[in-house]
Amino acid sequence: MLTDLHCHILPGIDDGAKDREMSLAMLDMMKEQGVGRAVATPHFYAHREKSVEAFLEKRRAAFQSIAESSPLPIILGAEVAIEHGISELPGIERLAFENTGLILLELPYRGFESWMTGEIEAVSAEYGLKVILAHVHRYLEYYSKEEMERILGLDVIPQINNEAFTTFRERHFVKRLIKEGRRLAFGSDAHNLTARRPNWDVLRKKTEKGTTEFSDSLVEKYKE
Ligand SMILES: [Fe+2]
Repeated sequence: MLTDLHCHILPGIDDGAKDREMSLAMLDMMKEQGVGRAVATPHFYAHREKSVEAFLEKRRAAFQSIAESSPLPIILGAEVAIEHGISELPGIERLAFENTGLILLELPYRGFESWMTGEIEAVSAEYGLKVILAHVHRYLEYYSKEEMERILGLDVIPQINNEAFTTFRERHFVKRLIKEGRRLAFGSDAHNLTARRPNWDVLRKKTEKGTTEFSDSLVEKYKE
């Protein structure tokens, strides 16, 4: 089942869907594009949240407001920003995709620093979680080749946004990973109905059948 592992479809919780109506329209669009289920991954920034519990409460309320009308099954998750000390945040393991051992982490948009890999490794070692690293192709502009290799050398599943297939450099990068047999996670990272809309049509057009097979199996593979 085609699974969107990264999207901002919950209403009013982050810079994604702004209300219930937009949220449901995004889910409809996904369904039309062949998506069978979505993992909702609202942004979690530790420095902005009171606590993991408070975030989860907000997330629950946002989900409740669409749960009965959603055209697709939704799994609750988060996109956790990597910050100094994030691996020691109380309750961070509760931000894993529900009932799985998968957690989506997002690197900061700036140059590589080695503490970042330390945080990633600690999250995975302390809690036995498998880290999915959000939209790795976006860091081509910040990282040297060696730094990117270091990130890809971690025990993580790199996640690709469908939009990567629309630019030459990022497409080239992703195609290389696929050719090397790298197992990848895919997501739309959809935020709205326009500039950052659900875009599974793009992925279907630009990749061979079977490209998302591993990605679509992740939720079952890491079920807890
Ligand atoms: Fe995102």
